[in-house]
Amino acid sequence: MIIDQINKSTFNYIKDEENTKGVLGITHNRIVEIPNFIDAETANSIISYVESKGEDWGDIAFYGSLGMGLAPNDPGLAEHGLNGTFFDDLREKFKEAVELVFDRKVRPNTSHAQKWDVGGFAAPHSDNSDFDGVPNAFEINKYVGILYLNGDYEGGDLFFCKEAEVYDKETNSNRWETYLSFKPNAFSYYVFPGGVENVHGVSEILSGTRYTMVSFWDYEEIEYDQATLDKWKEEEKQVRIEQAIQKEEWAKGNKYA
Ligand SMILES: [Fe+2]
Repeated sequence: MIIDQINKSTFNYIKDEENTKGVLGITHNRIVEIPNFIDAETANSIISYVESKGEDWGDIAFYGSLGMGLAPNDPGLAEHGLNGTFFDDLREKFKEAVELVFDRKVRPNTSHAQKWDVGGFAAPHSDNSDFDGVPNAFEINKYVGILYLNGDYEGGDLFFCKEAEVYDKETNSNRWETYLSFKPNAFSYYVFPGGVENVHGVSEILSGTRYTMVSFWDYEEIEYDQATLDKWKEEEKQVRIEQAIQKEEWAKGNKYA
């Protein structure tokens, strides 16, 4: 079962403040947990479904982590107790949730299932900008929503960072220090602006496998001109080249590349 009525009174506000970083029109910085977004049985069904599609997992940007796009109306859904429109229905609920948290209309960007095996982690990052807050080719990703499907793993905390008062400006090393770190509750949906106002990461998975569903959101009404879209396409090509180099380093055993 997917949550039926989303009620603000159930929201757990981990953070709720004005956004002083003020980029990309993010006026409020809220990190919100919506508990029991799905039930345990549904979460298990999603995990068994995505595990059955083993060959569809692909590398994504974080070490030890794999992602999978989700096709609607896959006949295989029924074998795992999920109806054909399940992922569409879930996405509609995600949308409703993000809109309630931020009091504005949004539209979906990409969404995927993600799994993290032992040793996997995500270093501090912004989803849509560089560390100075300059938007990059992923600036459409204003908000991120993450649904946590299981709790039977160790490590894998979601952490948030603030800028250190003193750091090496030449190399940017030690720029980000963690001020908040927690193990997300299974079956909860967490929503936050994933840009420079919330530099975040995932601590190393120590045992088990951590399963999530991740979706990104933009403002419903925002439009981009062709020149901007073309610029992003070029920038993205460059990012993919850099990621390929990074993956070669990972393959050589240099996981912090
Ligand atoms: Fe992220």
